[in-house]
Amino acid sequence: MAEAIDVRSVTFEYDLGRRHVLAVKDVSFAVKASEFLCIVGPSGCGKTTILNMLAGFLRPTSGEIRIGERQLDANRRDHGVVFQDFAQLFPWRTARRNVEFGLESRGVPKKVRAEKALEYLRLVGLEEFANVFPHQLSGGMQQRVAIARSLAYDPGVLLMDEPFAALDAMTREEMQQLLAGIWERTKKTVVYITHNVAEAVYLGDKILVLAARPGTVKAELACDLPRPRDPLSDRFVAAQRKVLQHLAAH
Ligand SMILES: Nc1ncnc2c1ncn2[C@@H]1O[C@H](COP(=O)(O)OP(=O)(O)OP(=O)(O)O)[C@@H](O)[C@H]1O
Ligand SMILES: [Mg+2]
Repeated sequence: MAEAIDVRSVTFEYDLGRRHVLAVKDVSFAVKASEFLCIVGPSGCGKTTILNMLAGFLRPTSGEIRIGERQLDANRRDHGVVFQDFAQLFPWRTARRNVEFGLESRGVPKKVRAEKALEYLRLVGLEEFANVFPHQLSGGMQQRVAIARSLAYDPGVLLMDEPFAALDAMTREEMQQLLAGIWERTKKTVVYITHNVAEAVYLGDKILVLAARPGTVKAELACDLPRPRDPLSDRFVAAQRKVLQHLAAH
């Protein structure tokens, strides 16, 4: 299952009692089913706020978000969400039991759950680590478990907030390759937030460039280089330059 996303004139204001912080202003964009959208923008421009609205954790102050056929409402929590923080796994559950979590809350029978969890751990290359606890895994491995967990219950969209930002450069590249491969196999709709322009060009079909404070859309760029992408190719470097120019433009 992969669903389309439609964000229409969304504004979000944090209400701090006496003070209001306008974090996102009049943002519109669309993601087709199975499309990979990357969102880049300076720190504080509202990327996480947008992701939290897509996940249903925050409700837009104004505007509308549609996922699939339905308007998003706060009760709907069936997307896969992967955060930057390694601490997103349940420390008291093994890797397999972490992956089973979403299936449990859907009432999937135990045996099916265990099989599904192993299948998704295999997808991220961690089948042998099924019975290990998060603290016994490296940061990159923990993020792989988080990805497996978010995919295991077949969400309509996969939402990722800088999932590899805390990893070293080499692990990060491996994870990008892994994610690109998983996306090609599962054809999920993905919204992926990153600070890293090379990462956006490596992964995205489309790149949304945000301007800071309040966050608004500066540009929406198509990124149609053939996959798998070669970060050293001229076209890749040119695409990167284009995104950087939009980021720097006033
Ligand atoms: N809980 C909150 N209460 C009040 N203001 C907030 C809250 N969370 C974020 N903000 C403000 O909203 C703006 C957008 O924050 P957000 O976290 O969405 O940015 P971001 O683009 O994800 O930044 P980063 O790249 O650093 O993760 C910021 O100016 C921030 O100060
Ligand atoms: Mg953020």
